[in-house]
Amino acid sequence: MQSTIVAVAGHRIWDSRGRPTVEVEVTLADGTRGRGMAPAGASRGAHEAVDLRDGGMRHGGFDVMHAVRNVNDIVAPHLLGLDALDQHGVDQVLVAVDGTPNKSRLGGNATIATSMAVMHAAAAASGLPLWKYLAEDTQCSLPMPEVQIFGGGAHAGQRVDIQDFLVMPAGSGSFDEALAICAEIYRAAGELMAQRKSRCGVADEGGWWPDFASNEEALSVLTDAIERAGCGGGKALISLDIAASEFYRDGLYRLGLEGKTFETGAWLAELYRWIERYPIISVEDPVAEDDVAGMRAFTAAVGSRVQVVGDDFLVTDAARVAHAAAAGCCNAVLIKPNQAGTVSETRAALLAGHKAAWGTIVSARSGETEDVCITHMAVGWNAGQLKVGSFARSERMAKWNEGLRIERSGAALSGFAGMTGVPVSARGNGDTEASAGR
Ligand code: PGA
Ligand code: ZN
Repeated sequence: MQSTIVAVAGHRIWDSRGRPTVEVEVTLADGTRGRGMAPAGASRGAHEAVDLRDGGMRHGGFDVMHAVRNVNDIVAPHLLGLDALDQHGVDQVLVAVDGTPNKSRLGGNATIATSMAVMHAAAAASGLPLWKYLAEDTQCSLPMPEVQIFGGGAHAGQRVDIQDFLVMPAGSGSFDEALAICAEIYRAAGELMAQRKSRCGVADEGGWWPDFASNEEALSVLTDAIERAGCGGGKALISLDIAASEFYRDGLYRLGLEGKTFETGAWLAELYRWIERYPIISVEDPVAEDDVAGMRAFTAAVGSRVQVVGDDFLVTDAARVAHAAAAGCCNAVLIKPNQAGTVSETRAALLAGHKAAWGTIVSARSGETEDVCITHMAVGWNAGQLKVGSFARSERMAKWNEGLRIERSGAALSGFAGMTGVPVSARGNGDTEASAGR
């Protein structure tokens, strides 16, 4: 068979932070090749697939030679002779060979790079663009982008506590227009930072460095940037990734920048105040990854008007998504392939989100590569939303630009998802205390 896997080769390459990561090349019987590259998180969920690192002194302990050897010595012999078109079958073999609940034997970085290489090879062998191969004849639309304007948290040396200050161009009618709006807001934010003499370069995902006196000041400047770009009145809304596990210790939420600590109830009250005051449409990981009661309370209080996203809380795990939906936690799931460790498990988590009538957001990691497959996943799996960091640095821009090319290729697509994938009644009027006071 032409799509039979005849070679699997693992190598070490380098990610967007200049750290080692795993690349896998798969060759099929007809000579077709596919290449997968593992991304890497900095603020990782405790329950996600293990990112296997060598430890020790070399490359700060981040080297991946062990994971690369796992691909070549353990994985490769099991995959030879399998059909690359049977992604599920290949991924089941990876799961079985690993044999642990969290890919700790082979490393989630080894398994996701292998699984993605098989996916790329299969699409190429089919003669289809990746998104179309993944779509399996279902209708797809271009996703609503979420673009980071200020970085923070673990991506900016904890300069501010909140990790991502993003915008969602709610009023856009196409992917192309959506990116153009985000570009104007990114530029306006840069101008505001320059005026404040606070423009100090960018954080890990390309967002402006968060040189602010308080977390809330970042929200205020972002709201100003949206208006300066002519996108007030609901044309663009704010999305926050709180990544709260990063500043939760001993039962308390601790904002290092402001020297304040909060019990869960007081922390949620602070978030509700921000939601009233600024045009916030989406909040990710508002509470720590195991704070189920906090997540349920937050979802009950604001889930009808704000998208409540689980990232570290759900770790791209179908069972966790189903469980959270039953427990009244979250109304959207972040989908990161390397949290799951294989393409099939990633898709299962997304389908669990669709089953719960949730929003689904395909997402990059803070450590990325030049691979653009997550854009294709967002389109082919009809995720509705895509989050790949800011509007700078080519490991990010490559993914946004790929969406433009897919949109231009047109024919089989049912247009742009807009806000239809966001599971809340849109705050279209942008009516908040901040805008009312202007
Ligand atoms: P990470 O951050 O890739 O560093 O985990 C991204 C996110 O939290 O969404
Ligand atoms: Zn997150």
